[in-house]
Amino acid sequence: MRRVVQAAIAVVFAVLAFLALFHGRAAKDAENRLDLAPRPSAATPFREETTLRNVTGAPLAYTVLASPGVKGPVTRTLAVGAVDRLASAVPVEIAFDSGKREARCTVHPGKPYSFRRDERGAIRVYPGSHGRSDAADLAPFVPTPPEIVARMLELAGVGRNDVVYDLGCGDGRVVIAAAKTYGARGVGVELDPDLLARCRAGAEREGVSKLVRFLDMDATKARLTEATVVAVYLLPESLESLVPVFERDLRPGARVVSHDYRVPGWDGRLVSSEALPGEGGRDHRILLYRMPGAK
Ligand SMILES: C[S@@+](CC[C@H](N)C(=O)[O-])C[C@H]1O[C@@H](n2cnc3c(N)ncnc32)[C@H](O)[C@@H]1O
Repeated sequence: MRRVVQAAIAVVFAVLAFLALFHGRAAKDAENRLDLAPRPSAATPFREETTLRNVTGAPLAYTVLASPGVKGPVTRTLAVGAVDRLASAVPVEIAFDSGKREARCTVHPGKPYSFRRDERGAIRVYPGSHGRSDAADLAPFVPTPPEIVARMLELAGVGRNDVVYDLGCGDGRVVIAAAKTYGARGVGVELDPDLLARCRAGAEREGVSKLVRFLDMDATKARLTEATVVAVYLLPESLESLVPVFERDLRPGARVVSHDYRVPGWDGRLVSSEALPGEGGRDHRILLYRMPGAK
């Protein structure tokens, strides 16, 4: 009888703990979700979530302006790294202080955005790659042109004994090219399910499925201990956030090849830097780094 009572008490406690956890999580999610449509109407029946992430490095305030179909004005403060979800059926205009002037921009339902600093330090709203609050948004999907991929692999000296990682691998083109051209093994890390499907279809089409695999995960949480080459095409602050992962996992002599952006704090490891002409008069930079300590 005593055992039955103890078991019943344990069950009650477990249920209470679960309810407390669930309530806490629901409250936290609700905190970041703003319902901007007064109510669904025949004209605007579907409300999709626009996400706004703060990667400026400091807390930030912005105001959702009132417009037809949008409740406002609503002023919000976004903590560093926080994500707001604006549920709306129509585009939403927001205003914020760019640090230089009052700025405005329109964000669209269902799309991810980030507040970031531009190269002059002004805050701007950029397209993001996903709205998940449990993962970093390292860069939107902008594929590296094939000739730049080819040169990155050549500069990194990729061969059949290499294991090439691409952090934020997009459609998988870097690891697929490394496998197809050099017989290297490859691992692509990506969060976007549509892109992951394209990676796997591309590997199949190019006949390299046995050499490459694709991981559905946040690249900042990947283990890189087996990588001999890491390819990246990510924003500068994202590269900065990956430096501790590189330092922790990469073995002596491993190469990091970066499209366009330097790895912060790694100038002493830079092996080569070159610029190749691209479309529309824009140059593509390729920066090659090597981990110290190789024989
Ligand atoms: C600029 S694209 C580069 C694609 C590919 N590496 C290339 O060079 O063609 C950046 C990619 O990073 C992905 N991404 C962004 N944040 C990520 C994260 N936390 N974990 C994994 N992938 C991420 C995006 O979905 C996007 O496909």
